[in-house]
Amino acid sequence: MASLKYFAFCAAAALAIPVTPEAPELVPRGTAVGNGEHDGFFYNFWTDGGGHVTYQNKANGAYSVDWQDCSSFFGGKGWNPGRMDRNITFSGRFNAESNAYLSVYGTTRNPKVEYYVIEDYGSYDPTLQFAGGIQNGREGGTIQVDGGSYKIGYTRHTFMVPVGGDSVVTRVYSVRSAADRRASGTVNMQAHFDAWIEKLGLRVGTMEFQIVATEGYKGSGEAEITVSKRA
Ligand SMILES: *[C@@H]1O[C@H](CO)[C@@H](O)[C@H](O)[C@H]1NC(C)=O
Repeated sequence: MASLKYFAFCAAAALAIPVTPEAPELVPRGTAVGNGEHDGFFYNFWTDGGGHVTYQNKANGAYSVDWQDCSSFFGGKGWNPGRMDRNITFSGRFNAESNAYLSVYGTTRNPKVEYYVIEDYGSYDPTLQFAGGIQNGREGGTIQVDGGSYKIGYTRHTFMVPVGGDSVVTRVYSVRSAADRRASGTVNMQAHFDAWIEKLGLRVGTMEFQIVATEGYKGSGEAEITVSKRA
């Protein structure tokens, strides 16, 4: 669906517009890679530049992303800092035929942790990240909240950094079951933090940003999400 839409747009543009240096201004321009405030929300957008990725901040808590044969990207809106007790309401569309996630994502420091509440996903099941000890991870069981069932678990990825050797990043996950996946709803963050603390031994550090993120890896799709400022 998304690729048809994108190529239909390109074909129309190519037919209608003479090839001049002015032509590019008619191509929709996305938000540049970066992070900061936009219309009362914190946003963060990053891509490694592969393929076509257009992320756009829209009014209030809204954003859209279109990606075609992307390499890797990540973008969304929310708050900085995050809160453990926030109920996060979002709504929209998420269409991905390839590996992509729609999640509440945030980070803490001391200790350095990335956390994910994955609400919807594409072709790759995110629980494979921590199932069966992959990525030094482990499963922590299942929790029921917000009308769905989530599998929880963590991974510990070791990255080589240019100075100082290895860097370990812990990621904790709640992954909404395939049957309950959704692109609109409310996420009770406290319920997830309580489960991560109790079942995974998470130590919660200083909260950094917390956003409703769309991310993709090697593939195509589109999402349009509005985060509402409740709680
Ligand atoms: C979040 O939602 C839950 C369930 O409705 C409620 O019990 C809790 O008080 C809410 N938390 C906040 C901070 O509003």
